[in-house]
Amino acid sequence: MKKVLIATDKPFAPIAVSQIREVVEKAGYELRLLEKYTSQAQLIEAVADVDAVIIRSDLATKEVLDAAKNLKIVVRAGAGYDNIDLAAATANGIVAMNTPGQNSNAVAELAFGMMVFQIRNAFNGKSGSELRCKKLGIHAYGNVGKYVAKIAKGFGMEVYAFDPFVKAEDIESDGVKVVGSVEELYATCQYISLHIPANEKTKKSIGYNLLKSMPEGACLVNTARKEVINEAELVKVFEERKDFSYLSDIEPDNKTEIAEKFAGRYLFTAKKMGAQTEEANINAGKAAAEQIVAFFEKGDVTFKVNK
Ligand code: 3PG
Repeated sequence: MKKVLIATDKPFAPIAVSQIREVVEKAGYELRLLEKYTSQAQLIEAVADVDAVIIRSDLATKEVLDAAKNLKIVVRAGAGYDNIDLAAATANGIVAMNTPGQNSNAVAELAFGMMVFQIRNAFNGKSGSELRCKKLGIHAYGNVGKYVAKIAKGFGMEVYAFDPFVKAEDIESDGVKVVGSVEELYATCQYISLHIPANEKTKKSIGYNLLKSMPEGACLVNTARKEVINEAELVKVFEERKDFSYLSDIEPDNKTEIAEKFAGRYLFTAKKMGAQTEEANINAGKAAAEQIVAFFEKGDVTFKVNK
């Protein structure tokens, strides 16, 4: 009997776990659960004899993958797979997958929740402003970016996007204006919503020059990854621009410094909350389980992300 482990430091909603269980047990496999674990050692122990594992932002490091002697497939229930050591997976003959698009709406909604919080002064009683007619730049027009555009139009925002990997006509058909460079996007838009993945090319790529060029009342919304921000340069921008604010779905490494110096101009979630809805948990978790069953039963590797 195949063993499937759900290893989630930040657990799925119980309803998602029961729907994952249904998929796994219907296939005749056993489901195991490791939630809220407190050390990598617990994860390493739990993967020792399983055939498949479903993770979220959990770290599938070389050490973990080397210890998983029976593991054939690891599925990141979500979009970003920067938490999986892909080279180690490949070296161990393990297929790595993600579940693209399954939690995108949840992430997009959070971006707006954060923007409304910021533009209404954290609901402190003082007059704020409105998102309507403000310019929003979507940096990377993937699954989340597309939902962000749709919601932004509902708010009556003017929506721009930059993504060299998506055809301009595909973006324009959503009623979104395409700009020719990342510099133009930041120089045009008061609000920027970041949706780039964290990889060797993008890490620390958002820094002083881009943020300095943003229009009056600049606000950077990061529901992507903290790693894409150059945090030292972010502080410099905070210092030079009293009108700049930063909203991030996960605390930056220099959170204490920002909190001490720039009160009222930031919002950080303590745990990554973008995908933390029942709907997103069900969609991404079930997709992961179904992909595992399709892989074992039919050799389906549609969402494979390693070579
Ligand atoms: C993703 O890449 O899908 C999101 O960052 C969600 O991450 P999470 O599953 O850890 O909440």
